[in-house]
Amino acid sequence: MAQIPATSSIESVSTEKRVFAPPKAFSKTAQVKSLAEYRKLYKESITAPEKFWAKQAKQELVWSRPWKKVLEWKEPVAKWFVGGQLNVSENCLDRHLGTARANKAALIWEGEPAAEDRPGERRVLTYKQLHHEVCRFGNVLKQAGATKGDRVLIYLPMVPEAAIAMLACARIGAVHSVVFGGFSAQSVADRIFDSQAKLVITADGGFRRGAVVPLKQNVDAALELKNAQGELLTKSIEKVVVLRRAGNEINFQAGRDLWWHEEIAKASANCPAVPMDSEAPLFILYTSGSTGKPKGILHTTGGYLLYAKLTARYVFDLREEDVYWCTADIGWVTGHSYVVYGPLANGATSLMYEGAPNFPEADRFWSIVERYGVTTLYTAPTAIRAFMKWGVEWPKKHDLSSLRLLGSVGEPINPEAWIWYYETIGGKRCPIVDTWWQTETGGIMISPLPGAIPTKPGSASLPFFGIVPEVVDDAGRPVPRNSGGKLVVRKPWPGMLRGLWGDPKRYQQVYWTEVAGSYFTGDGCRQDKDGYFWIVGRIDDVLNVAGHRIGTAEVESALVSHQKVAEAAVVGRPDDLKGQALVAFVTLKSGVKVDPGLQDELRQHVAKEIGPVAKPDDIRFAEALPKTRSGKIMRRLLKQIASGAEIKGDTTTLEDLNVLAKLAAPDE
Ligand code: WTA
Repeated sequence: MAQIPATSSIESVSTEKRVFAPPKAFSKTAQVKSLAEYRKLYKESITAPEKFWAKQAKQELVWSRPWKKVLEWKEPVAKWFVGGQLNVSENCLDRHLGTARANKAALIWEGEPAAEDRPGERRVLTYKQLHHEVCRFGNVLKQAGATKGDRVLIYLPMVPEAAIAMLACARIGAVHSVVFGGFSAQSVADRIFDSQAKLVITADGGFRRGAVVPLKQNVDAALELKNAQGELLTKSIEKVVVLRRAGNEINFQAGRDLWWHEEIAKASANCPAVPMDSEAPLFILYTSGSTGKPKGILHTTGGYLLYAKLTARYVFDLREEDVYWCTADIGWVTGHSYVVYGPLANGATSLMYEGAPNFPEADRFWSIVERYGVTTLYTAPTAIRAFMKWGVEWPKKHDLSSLRLLGSVGEPINPEAWIWYYETIGGKRCPIVDTWWQTETGGIMISPLPGAIPTKPGSASLPFFGIVPEVVDDAGRPVPRNSGGKLVVRKPWPGMLRGLWGDPKRYQQVYWTEVAGSYFTGDGCRQDKDGYFWIVGRIDDVLNVAGHRIGTAEVESALVSHQKVAEAAVVGRPDDLKGQALVAFVTLKSGVKVDPGLQDELRQHVAKEIGPVAKPDDIRFAEALPKTRSGKIMRRLLKQIASGAEIKGDTTTLEDLNVLAKLAAPDE
């Protein structure tokens, strides 16, 4: 385990003393109106958690059968609302139909403007329309052979059909596993193999910065991939449903492949929501860990939905008239909880945008905010830093006065970016919610409640109801205020992961052994004198590149699978824009010479193995990797080298890192 820095770099910019009180106008109508009210509710939620959650579950969700027991906790396995039954799609759709929300926009979607002859398409789906589409697609899924408990892999661009597919799975009780469109055929195959999915839902292609991402082609390639024993990884797949999106040419395998539009045209709109056990799996979402292949994070039905719904409403102070926009892709957990499930369970209007923030120009986001009157914007620090770099002239071209709340997620936000976001985008009137959470936590864990909790730029502030985070030392003892430590969560909560798909041992080992009796987050943290949490970032071998989690071990094994590579070590270095950048140190097999094209060849190889998101920013070739006497790669030293001056000039020479290694402590 890497050493925990005593203080965060965030703190070094002396903004900790800058405290922003919630704007008075905001507090007047907010869900929680004062710090005192937050403290009172928080206290109730942690002193009698079962009472608190039972009350919320009753108020917030529609149950087909009431639960018998609020929580059954046998560490590390939690069961919430045991014996209860409900359906997630019913809670996100049907329940709004008999109300004034029936004809309200559930999803507002804007496509990427790919070319002059193809301006951004726009679609609005009301709750009634979304319900209609979800029911019809639920029947398509059934027709294609999916039934309760089956796994369905979703590999789609950011189009309404992604949400429709997720909700249709939930409706019939199938378990979805969404794979981000930026992942490769190999990643798709690995996830199909691990989840034993029966169906794939994909599109011919998606648009990204004017180019077509050939999703169907990747699926075709995935379906051909074999393991080391020569067996197909994807034997479990029976059908592939293909959405016509980009219009690019594809191979269509009759009998296996089905067109979305043809199937849905035949499907009835009568698709009753199947009552599911509260603990029935809802989705699996793969995420990188510090070792091995990505882990299938498992979320279930009742607890997850309650947590996503409640956090969405309190943290974003959702109101009936809001136009709420979370810019995350559906392929990440933020897209699950805060584009689809959280907002829809609350009957909110959720905006989805297909493309990049700077396509065709750097004011794409601000043009969307202005045109739709977006009230709430939830995005990542990486995007904010990019906006800063592109200049204030872009947001200044637009009227952003509809905004009333801003959110940040995915990585620590540096105070400069926070202040810029606050002043330039929020016009100093919008509170900022810096929300800390993880794929594993299902929903937001630490965040200001706007209107109630004063904010400090760079701190995610205080825990949500029912959450008991603590900063501890190696022995699991709480550390004094202002000292660095490991962030753990002491008590189970409804949104927590229920395990790793098919791997209970790894679940126990990754999350529940580092600090006995607590959930270990993998993050380093510090609490200041006011109890505010300051997240330092990952302290395991997981990097956070532009808000995306990337396991160094995964990138290393992708690199060594290249025929020219002997050994590889991947570390992070600070990056102004992306938070962290990936630096790979590589040794080559004997006889292989470094040539000017090799860097690119290896980067492409990683893109093929994992996906473009994991491409190393720098690749440095070395004679040998520096190792300790016991043969361990000296990662700390590599990190220092990676963060040092950038390599200049000839990148085709081999570096002699062992000279440096000899200077470093031999027992790292
Ligand atoms: C980091 C994304 C600081 C953290 C929802 C965590 C953050 C990892 C914040 C989870 C934040 C997320 N401040 N760090 N507000 N939000 N992180 O699973 O290191 O993609 O462990 O979930 O992102 O990433 P994941």
